[in-house]
Amino acid sequence: MAADGQDGRWLEGLRVLVTGAAGGLGRALVAEADLRGAKVAATGRRPNIDTADLPAAAIRIAADLRDPDDCRMLVHEAAEQLGGLDIVVNNAATLVCKPFNELELDDLETVWEVNLRAPVLIMQESFPYLCKGTSPAIVNVVSTAGVNGGIAPVSAYGMTKAGLIVLTKAVAREYGTHGIRVFSLSPPAIESEMRRVLPSDLSVATDRVKSMSALGRPAPPPEEIARFTLLTASGEGGLVTGTMIDLSATAY
Ligand SMILES: NC(=O)c1ccc[n+]([C@@H]2O[C@H](COP(=O)([O-])OP(=O)(O)OC[C@H]3O[C@@H](n4cnc5c(N)ncnc54)[C@H](OP(=O)(O)O)[C@@H]3O)[C@@H](O)[C@H]2O)c1
Repeated sequence: MAADGQDGRWLEGLRVLVTGAAGGLGRALVAEADLRGAKVAATGRRPNIDTADLPAAAIRIAADLRDPDDCRMLVHEAAEQLGGLDIVVNNAATLVCKPFNELELDDLETVWEVNLRAPVLIMQESFPYLCKGTSPAIVNVVSTAGVNGGIAPVSAYGMTKAGLIVLTKAVAREYGTHGIRVFSLSPPAIESEMRRVLPSDLSVATDRVKSMSALGRPAPPPEEIARFTLLTASGEGGLVTGTMIDLSATAY
């Protein structure tokens, strides 16, 4: 894929919305979009979004994705402030690490609300804006846990990611007739707040995690993942829609 036209500003003028923008991958997505010439709306919970180290030009919108009104508000606020929307990245998520038999109702509700219901509402609210966008695309950030159930007790999280993978395929079919591409992307292990709830031998730098890579080397930094994600979401992404792009480099 060509990536260095227009002095590397291959998102020039495009309007990008990123959820979970104060997190590990989210910060990298916002920085990369800004670097490549996009106008960016960064969302997350207050106070994290207020204190996050983000490019000065990025618009910050505080929203709690457990609140449906906040999900809708953040889309309209972003579209109003950016003058429309071209790329939406549903990146925010929350992880519960507990044996299946210990899961409580609140665990199930939290992962459902943040990881699946919020992307549903954000896609629906973004649709009219994306219909008027340039090479419009939605990226749903998922996980291999949504395919294989996870390598730790993360069944509730995996269940929501599985739902998002299938939902992406269904929505891609419906939105495709409006010229909107929708794909899911499964990143490799990223050292982030989310991973702190996992057992320590699943930290990114451990031999166990490195050995899971078919390439036998550590995952690339979030900046590299963000670049690939946004390049695929841009017009350079061509026919990529419906599918899950798996960057985990695992062989299962
Ligand atoms: N880390 C990994 O190894 C890994 C592997 C596979 C897939 N993923 C996926 O990659 C994506 C990014 O994860 P990450 O590693 O960057 O995790 P992270 O640093 O923990 O970031 C997650 C983000 O989600 C936001 N979030 C959680 N609950 C929210 C709520 N109720 N309302 C609004 N925002 C909320 C957090 O916002 P606050 O900053 O306000 O808390 C945070 O910015 C996720 O979809 C994750 O499932 C990660």
